[in-house]
Amino acid sequence: MDRALPASAVLGAQWGDEGKGKAIDQLAINSDWAVRFQGGNNAGHTIVVGDTTLKLHLLPSGITNSKCNLILGCGMVVDPWVLDTELEGWYSLTKERPEGNRLFISDRASVIFPFHRFYDGADELIGTTGRGIGPTYRDRTERVGIRFADLKFLLNDENRIAETVDRMNKQLNAVGVKQEISIDELTKDISWILDRFSDSIRNTGPMLHNALSDGNQVLLEGAQGSMLDIDQGTYPFVTSSITGRANASHGSGIHPGQISSCFGISKAYTTRVGNGPFPTELSLEKGPGKQMSELGHEFGTTTGRPRRTGWLDLVALKESQRINGYSGLVITKLDVLGGLDEIFFCVSYLLDGKEIDFLPTASEDLLRCQPIYESIPGFQSLTSEEWISLANESRNGQGIKILPDSIRNYLKAIEDFVGVPIVSVGVGPDRMASIASLNGPFDFEISEATF
Ligand code: GDP
Ligand code: IMO
Ligand code: MG
Repeated sequence: MDRALPASAVLGAQWGDEGKGKAIDQLAINSDWAVRFQGGNNAGHTIVVGDTTLKLHLLPSGITNSKCNLILGCGMVVDPWVLDTELEGWYSLTKERPEGNRLFISDRASVIFPFHRFYDGADELIGTTGRGIGPTYRDRTERVGIRFADLKFLLNDENRIAETVDRMNKQLNAVGVKQEISIDELTKDISWILDRFSDSIRNTGPMLHNALSDGNQVLLEGAQGSMLDIDQGTYPFVTSSITGRANASHGSGIHPGQISSCFGISKAYTTRVGNGPFPTELSLEKGPGKQMSELGHEFGTTTGRPRRTGWLDLVALKESQRINGYSGLVITKLDVLGGLDEIFFCVSYLLDGKEIDFLPTASEDLLRCQPIYESIPGFQSLTSEEWISLANESRNGQGIKILPDSIRNYLKAIEDFVGVPIVSVGVGPDRMASIASLNGPFDFEISEATF
């Protein structure tokens, strides 16, 4: 029988880049496993510990705890060459080789091949990351994709390799991509992946199930965010996977009843990279939008593109809560709003003269939505050192109460609107720059001790 099953999910509650990496790094201190369950290296998760900044695309952010086991789950699409580069970077930093020791790749995860990257390069509509994510998921749902479990069979089947190469080249040609795949290249690629990763490829669902039955703590690390979800997001300007809680279990190979808590990560404002509707968008050239971009260093972790910026959209955040049922919210980058005269947050939209409190399904409608705002007076700006010392002081039994009333009013407005308690507030990129609510799930000892 299943015992009490302590898996926690950490999910992006907006359009990605909310600060999931930082939250997972913090929670990993008390975790035995960290699991990525969807997406691939379209993700870019940043962890800052003192002078060290890690930008992870495939490795789960729990890697910073050397006792934490790591899984690239069955819901993922994995580019083996990117994984290799990331593992070499980790080795240079730490002299550790986690692959096959504490890092395992699900044999059900799909392999991203150069073909998928080339095909994604033809995208002009969505503004994808170009990493081959959509084409790999498309192959999966068409049931022609290649999973890690399939590689060794494919290698011994000349006909299937020839058919695969033929299919790939026809598709590239159809969208006007110049690159071509050869039988020789695909064969060599498969051999290399097997040589490099055979020791790490496992049936990870049962592994995780057994770990949970043994009472292990498991963190399920979301990528992207709810508004980029293929089913619930701002389609078609979304990613190609289910980013929410429902897939945190499914994409890890465990069942939904095993998730006991779920944290939604949201910035104190909003950003979006790539194309698509963004009702609260501001100008990057002037005023608050420029401040968010500059002080928040809002450039994509994966592609380096400038992120679009805007006020916090509580309509979208509430939708995210409806989909995921958060037990707590983490509000990040509060520090970035310091010094603004007034802080706005969107509480409904005006669509064709009618006030609505949800995101219309068609992007054409969402594009016409005008945000209706409420506002609170701004708060003083502090230096990063001042924010960190405030965060340190908050750990002496004060928690969020250490923040001035002006900020707490903003946090209270968010809590009341979304109906979820705020469990941690980010006031800088560093691991230590967070203020946790007292006795909440983020209220534990953290330290600058590196990996
Ligand atoms: P993720 O994809 O959700 O993991 O987020 P990213 O790493 O792509 O982007 C978040 C960015 O904000 C990173 O550069 C983080 O270092 C930074 N960050 C996270 N939390 C905070 C915070 O509370 N304040 C500030 N100023 N930066 C933060
Ligand atoms: P993390 O995990 C922000 C965006 C892309 C594009 C759309 C589709 O770091 O939060 P894709 O390559 O997935 O087919 O692109 O989704 N996108 C992200 N935006 N953060 C991410 O990941 C993203 N991953 C994809 O910019 O608009
Ligand atoms: Mg990111």
